[in-house]
Amino acid sequence: MTEGNHKPWKVLYLAAEAAPLIKVGGLADVAGALPAEMRRKGHDVRIVLPLHPSLRGMVAGKKPDARPAVSARGSMMQAEAYRTELGGAPVYLIDGPPLRATDSIYHADSGRDAPKYVFFSLAALELVRTLGWKPDLVHTNDWHTAAANLWLAGRGRPDRFFKDTRSVLSIHNLPYFGQNAGWALAQFGLGVPEHPTPKIDSGLAEGDRFGALPYWAFSTLLPLGIAAADMNITVSPSYAEEILTPEFGAGLEDYLRTQTDRLTGILNGIDPAVWDPSADARLPSRFGPDTTALRAANKAALQQRMRLDADPDVPLVGIVSRLNEQKGIDLALAALECWCGRGNQAVILGAGDPWLEQQCAAFAARHRRRAAVETGYHDDLAVLIYGGSDYFLVPSRYEPCGISQMIAMRYGSLPVVRAVGGLKDTVRDISGDAGTGLVFTDASSTSAAMALGRAEELFRQKDRLTAAQRLGMEKDFGWARSVEEYLAVYRRVLAG
Ligand code: ADP
Ligand code: GLC
Repeated sequence: MTEGNHKPWKVLYLAAEAAPLIKVGGLADVAGALPAEMRRKGHDVRIVLPLHPSLRGMVAGKKPDARPAVSARGSMMQAEAYRTELGGAPVYLIDGPPLRATDSIYHADSGRDAPKYVFFSLAALELVRTLGWKPDLVHTNDWHTAAANLWLAGRGRPDRFFKDTRSVLSIHNLPYFGQNAGWALAQFGLGVPEHPTPKIDSGLAEGDRFGALPYWAFSTLLPLGIAAADMNITVSPSYAEEILTPEFGAGLEDYLRTQTDRLTGILNGIDPAVWDPSADARLPSRFGPDTTALRAANKAALQQRMRLDADPDVPLVGIVSRLNEQKGIDLALAALECWCGRGNQAVILGAGDPWLEQQCAAFAARHRRRAAVETGYHDDLAVLIYGGSDYFLVPSRYEPCGISQMIAMRYGSLPVVRAVGGLKDTVRDISGDAGTGLVFTDASSTSAAMALGRAEELFRQKDRLTAAQRLGMEKDFGWARSVEEYLAVYRRVLAG
């Protein structure tokens, strides 16, 4: 029995990444924590991930635990599934020809990735059929796994094994649509017939959900998944509202406004056991809410590692981020010009668009000993930035939730964020009650620079600063509340 005293559900959870096995961004943090939390509530949640190139070593020499087959252009394409574990949850790693044909997790052109992710999604469904484990619900994440929603809404309906299985889709990043997937959809029998009267090739019923989609969406995985899912969940409540507007809807806003009965927002959490500054062995100096003075040693270590002046009395801003337009890194650099020009310090850790990597390097070169940049993905340095910086800058143009600002608060670095999406839902400005950071309104370097100006003033008011740090560290960002909300959504979907 579950905690809520009802029948445990069988939930198949599909994702492209899950920490600590494989991580590019916040999706991995979520997929690494949420299923495990649901299992703690008594539900049988199983995760399926692609066997990405960097995971191959884990299964070398092992025999697959199952061999599901996926139908492709009338013949069968063989997959292999290897079982492992993540935080107590069973994980199946799926391999197969389209997965072996790529050498990265994501290709810059999602069309090139479409065959692998469509194959992966369908192989995950065939896997559980092979195991005889019939899910009550399939929970997918982003465009990579949306083909599973599509299959279940079409071919799955008359299928004896899957006819009662419902599906939900988590939207972590709407503009990452999974475009140019028409060919891959057709290859795996999911080709969606011409707009505006989709029918029946793929088994999809006609109707408003699909008929109301814009024309371009019919070769685009995420919109099709959204149309197919029994419920769509954005990763913060604010983002669920924002995507109904032209600024954030990426061209899908008119459609989404007609589908609000299938759209809700649930805030992400962070795993307090993974993100714990009092126990994090990666930190030179561990600390808690009452011992924030111990952070000084981390700041010193960060300054030394990044070759900044060893000075405890200048404020230091950190950034840990994918480097792209979403994250407003260009805005950050412009705002940090003034910041470093006044003698303050900045550290940037990130990887992404080459032009932004170059801009970051040029910025650091202009402010030697005050600014430093490291490109690439480095867990240890990320933790040192969270635990050693005074402020953590997130000037995003849009932010579906954002995990990094929550980690920053937990590690005593005050977030300086734009009031958008999940940033708005998690950070309160210090000008009001219970403030834990600095919030600015516009996606502009001026607005970010003004917030940094306030941060500089606050740095001299040590008592206020420490009080805000402590509040942020004590804030409960654990998954417990959000998991209840997910389970309430599951209940509704399964009842409907
Ligand atoms: P997004 O998923 O949009 O990239 P989030 O804030 O939700 O943004 O999650 C980012 C996650 O990835 C955080 O856990 C952050 O610490 C981590 N991260 C991002 N870039 C790097 C990097 N270069 N090195 C190490 N960790 C990183
Ligand atoms: C996406 C979003 C980010 C969110 C993460 C996890 O990558 O950009 O805002 O926190 O997914 O849901």
